[in-house]
Amino acid sequence: MDDKKVESLAYLLNRLNQGKVTPELRKEAMEMVSNIDPIELSLAEQKLIEDGMEPEKLRHLCDVHMEILSDELDKVKNHIFEGHVIDTLIKEHDKIKEFLFDLEDINFGIQLMKSKDENPMVIERLLEIANLILDAENHHLREENVLFPELEKRGITGPPRIMKMEHDSLRLRKRKLKEAALKVDEMDFDLLKAEVDEAAKYIIFNLRDHIYKENHILYPTALDSIADKEVWNDMKVRCDQVGYCSFTPER
Ligand SMILES: [Fe+2]
Ligand SMILES: [Fe+2]
Repeated sequence: MDDKKVESLAYLLNRLNQGKVTPELRKEAMEMVSNIDPIELSLAEQKLIEDGMEPEKLRHLCDVHMEILSDELDKVKNHIFEGHVIDTLIKEHDKIKEFLFDLEDINFGIQLMKSKDENPMVIERLLEIANLILDAENHHLREENVLFPELEKRGITGPPRIMKMEHDSLRLRKRKLKEAALKVDEMDFDLLKAEVDEAAKYIIFNLRDHIYKENHILYPTALDSIADKEVWNDMKVRCDQVGYCSFTPER
């Protein structure tokens, strides 16, 4: 992508970040982004970060990008076989999304309670779901140790960097959720409710958003840019070495 294109993208982003996103501005953004292919866009995003733009400011662009890419996931699914590195990652995302629905439900129940003795079952379920969500660690490690380095080797460093950042902030909240679940007996219940609410809402919103971006942007980009089948076979071996999650479907 030439510098001029990157420049106009930066200008557009600054306007998107300045305040209200009007329908006109959104339309302009959609037109601009639909003329750029995902890899080019990744490279442009990366250049903007290198030039000093805060990664958070790219969020708006992500939103617009997502709308355009809404059918990307189906395309990806049609291009991979069962057991492919990306196939397993997508299926794990489906499971994680189920856990997030459960967590939403559990948190809702807890927020209605006045004391822990009102519904001990729901507290038990909180610990169970916190453990399941933490057990996604090998999923994130396969991304960080196998997938991201292959993208970086091909010059795509911006998106993996943002994804890694999100993994780290999610890890923090996942641990907080589990700690809260373990402290039920010793902690003031209102305080506990507030802690659970904060961590749960953070995880639910941000992990869903993270999964969406990977399914619709990062994985399609990976399939486009890593063309050699041998590389995927080798990545599969390295994924096996990292390991899987208790909820990974049979491969
Ligand atoms: Fe991820
Ligand atoms: Fe993921």
